Amino acid sequence: MKFFIDTANLAQIKEANELGILDGVTTNPSLMAKEGIKGDEAVKNHYKTICELVDGDISAEVISTDFDGIIAEGKVLAAIHPNIVVKVPMIKDGVKALKWFTDNGIKTNCTLVFSAGQAILAAKAGATYVSPFVGRIDDGNWDGMELIGQIAQIYSLQGFKTQILAASIRSSLHIVRAAELGADVCTCPLDPILGLLKHPLTDIGLAKFLEDARKMQQ
Ligand code: E4P
Repeated sequence: MKFFIDTANLAQIKEANELGILDGVTTNPSLMAKEGIKGDEAVKNHYKTICELVDGDISAEVISTDFDGIIAEGKVLAAIHPNIVVKVPMIKDGVKALKWFTDNGIKTNCTLVFSAGQAILAAKAGATYVSPFVGRIDDGNWDGMELIGQIAQIYSLQGFKTQILAASIRSSLHIVRAAELGADVCTCPLDPILGLLKHPLTDIGLAKFLEDARKMQQ
């Protein structure tokens, strides 16, 4: 399973990248706004900086909702760097645009996916990635991980090539469950990634090893 970080924060992207386990980055308009990025040029420059930091797929989201607008915006984003993946919302014109991008060799990430039916449409349109939003489904008292499993089963049965990108991941356990269920990618903030490191027995065991190592040096 590939690890993407879900942020536009350059310090966090660098920290995750320095761990050596980062395969890419996902962003969205909310994450970009959180970093105070304003204006088309600033947005483009920010994506360029992220592409220079991380050698992997970088999702950049369109904000248009009509076919022509999505295509025009996607072309501009894709021209920033070969690793840019155009992130397109799961709406009618979005599906049409996904197919257009597929036919024109531009990688895509279909975002805001909350059902298996939507995931089937994204795959039919040839999306590179499909992003089911696990955490937001959980927020509504449904089981987001159930959807990951369902999509994985359908894609495997049907031979769809679209990669399942488990998104809206909120915890380290979410990452483990996504891996168990066969997600191709998991995108999440830095904290759940660092949370994977934690186990009290590791801390206790290391303290004991270091204590005994000191005895050998006396
Ligand atoms: C996916 O690509 C989205 O950017 C993201 O995972 C949404 O997460 P949230 O529900 O925590 O905002």
